[in-house]
Amino acid sequence: MAGTMDILIREMTMEDYKQVYALWTEIKGFGIRSIDDSEQGVERFLRRNPTTSVVAVQNGRIIGNILCGHDGRTGCFYHVCVAKKYRNHGVGYRMVRAAMEALQKEGVSKISLVAFKSNQVGNAFWQGIGWQEREDLNCYEFVLNEENITRFVK
Ligand SMILES: CC(C)(COP(=O)(O)OP(=O)(O)OC[C@H]1O[C@@H](n2cnc3c(N)ncnc32)[C@H](O)[C@@H]1OP(=O)(O)O)[C@@H](O)C(=O)NCCC(=O)NCCS
Repeated sequence: MAGTMDILIREMTMEDYKQVYALWTEIKGFGIRSIDDSEQGVERFLRRNPTTSVVAVQNGRIIGNILCGHDGRTGCFYHVCVAKKYRNHGVGYRMVRAAMEALQKEGVSKISLVAFKSNQVGNAFWQGIGWQEREDLNCYEFVLNEENITRFVK
């Protein structure tokens, strides 16, 4: 890695899928879902949210990603990641800014995301860039499809 000045942040398209998926499989602790994160799953997500997900690219190689969408009201980030050797050079922050600007263009006023309490690096990042941790909320979910199995990257 010569530096990070030449890293471009741009919108993610389906052409990026294979490289993005390969990157996810390198991120320790990531949960990859058999349906949501499959090629068809991500295609469905990007069709609904065509302008808000981003990749970080150096010399044609994808080294960072945020899957970002919204429901017309709240924006949501998934799979925020930077390849290990490119971390701590502001790439994550630049991707967050780009996704935030894309959401603002869509008229969205707020973003929420989930971080495992045990994810020290992730929580330090969100706190470091000034995001508000909500301690007054419980997070609820209801599984609609048991076949959407999560595999954690070791
Ligand atoms: C979280 C992640 C995307 C951050 O990407 P990054 O490119 O390293 O982050 P940046 O260099 O843009 O950091 C921006 C700020 O976040 C904070 N920060 C980032 N990593 C940090 C760490 N390990 N410890 C403490 N603060 C940290 C700092 O305030 C930093 O600002 P500074 O460089 O001026 O000090 C990256 O560490 C990663 O991919 N981690 C594994 C996946 C993950 O945990 N994702 C989050 C899921 S919720």
